[in-house]
Amino acid sequence: MELIQAIKERRSVRKFKPQPVPHALLERILKDSLWAPSGMNTQPWKLFVLEGKARDEFVEVSNRAVKLLDVRLRELFNDKMRNYIHGYFKNLGGAPSVVVALSAIHPQDTYMVASYESTAALIQNLCLLAHEAGLSTCWMTGQIWVEREILDHLAVSGYRLAGVIPIGYPDQNPPAPPRKHEDITWLS
Ligand SMILES: Cc1cc2nc3c(=O)[nH]c(=O)nc-3n(C[C@H](O)[C@H](O)[C@H](O)COP(=O)(O)O)c2cc1C
Repeated sequence: MELIQAIKERRSVRKFKPQPVPHALLERILKDSLWAPSGMNTQPWKLFVLEGKARDEFVEVSNRAVKLLDVRLRELFNDKMRNYIHGYFKNLGGAPSVVVALSAIHPQDTYMVASYESTAALIQNLCLLAHEAGLSTCWMTGQIWVEREILDHLAVSGYRLAGVIPIGYPDQNPPAPPRKHEDITWLS
């Protein structure tokens, strides 16, 4: 697959088939994702892959976020969409695997931004590589509302939550949202 095809065709999928992702395939995608650039080559990420019982337990913790997120959902969406989002959080669309991406804490804001951005580059790699392999993902940050609970649940310190990425074989084919604007300024 051409890179441009992967970039344009990758979609956020919120309904997955129960079929598990082969371990070797997921491992290869995750290892290849690590080839992201990072601020000062710090490679500040830490990944968890949750499957089986660990996945189910994580989904319970993650689901607590949507109740807190609801104030914002009410501002942004109608009831139909809100109910859909609540339903999605309940089981993360049935994704058989969930990747949790963490970013190393740096006490200085400027470096913390670089830490998040580096992990974001890794997450995009992951989403594109998964798409190329016939899998789908949904990059999520809604769980930031329960970040402390998630870090405690994973028994991690020294890291912040960068993203939660359910991954599996897609059971829906959402349309591509059109680009809203091209805010590119050329100066010469
Ligand atoms: C940083 C980031 C955070 C996101 N958080 C969520 C989320 O919490 N829940 C969700 O359902 N989708 C989330 N998304 C997915 C976006 O809703 C999605 O990318 C957007 O609607 C465009 O659709 P597309 O990914 O299919 O192009 C997030 C995406 C990004 C990049």
